[in-house]
Amino acid sequence: MSLYPALRPRRLRRNPNLRRMIRESTLSVDNLIAPLFIRTGHDVRHPIASMPGQFQLSVDTATREVEELAEMGIPAVLLFGIPATKDAVGSDNYDVDGIVPSAIRAIKQAVPEMVVISDMCFCEYTDHGHCGLLNQPDSPHYDEHLPEGYLLNDATLTLLGQASVVHAEAGADIIAPSGMIDGMVATIRAALDDADLSHTAIMSYAAKFHSSFYGPFRDAAESPPSFGDRRQYQMDIANTREALKEVVLDEGEGADILMVKPALPYLDILQRMREYSNLPLAAYQVSGEYSMIKASAAHGWLDERQVALESLMAIRRAGADMIITYFARDVVHWLS
Ligand code: PBG
Repeated sequence: MSLYPALRPRRLRRNPNLRRMIRESTLSVDNLIAPLFIRTGHDVRHPIASMPGQFQLSVDTATREVEELAEMGIPAVLLFGIPATKDAVGSDNYDVDGIVPSAIRAIKQAVPEMVVISDMCFCEYTDHGHCGLLNQPDSPHYDEHLPEGYLLNDATLTLLGQASVVHAEAGADIIAPSGMIDGMVATIRAALDDADLSHTAIMSYAAKFHSSFYGPFRDAAESPPSFGDRRQYQMDIANTREALKEVVLDEGEGADILMVKPALPYLDILQRMREYSNLPLAAYQVSGEYSMIKASAAHGWLDERQVALESLMAIRRAGADMIITYFARDVVHWLS
């Protein structure tokens, strides 16, 4: 049987150069953001059990790591802090000498060109592990109309503004609020502008879902909630329109970059956001996405390199400009 000539797309898959010429999406070092976990101490490189190949680093080892990442061509890092002490209000987050501000100063001094993104949330710093201030009878913010233990939105905003200024003054190029607190982008924008930090950008975790794929991260950042869960602030996994509503709000509030998190199970959200917004988009390939691949590879069930690269290409194809990935280092080796 003779087919009409146009029905033969395999013609353009015939050899590697033809395939290269028609490739629609790309993955390069330019797209990568490497997350780093910073803890107190000196010369610390503490393996994270649930995330093979990832470590908690002290400020000095993190700085050396960033020097290497810069040599590899990776443009940006995302910092998380594990403070020496946690309290009800997460004060280490807005302490000028807190763990992340200290790391930002050291990194920017050693590698000024590295784009430093600061994850802006309170869950790593509070003793209860929630992402802001809780409604508690002994607190000055107590609201009798709200249940005990409820995350107080506006009192948390004030602290987010304060902490963002501290991180930006330490040298952070981008503040990345990740708590899904209403008004977080507007509040942080106003606080930065008031402090003459209008050049500091905001990458908003616009659509952050209440995902079980964050499981391994809670080991890494030592930040599981001590009671309850995060459903009152993170988004229901079933919702798309609500994600688009968050996009509209965050754009209006002054976000410079929008993020979707997790990445691979939420490619539909990413694609819709790509159609909806002209802002640059980031996707966060989260701890669970990483550890699933690592665990299968350790059993010999999946090819780590191929599956990781396929996942990242899919995230790019769906519309992400940049990807936060624990594979950042590996990708540079794999692509070279
Ligand atoms: C803090 C935060 C979390 C992650 C990034 N920032 C945890 C959470 O929200 O529960 C998860 C990242 C990952 O799983 O790799 N708000």
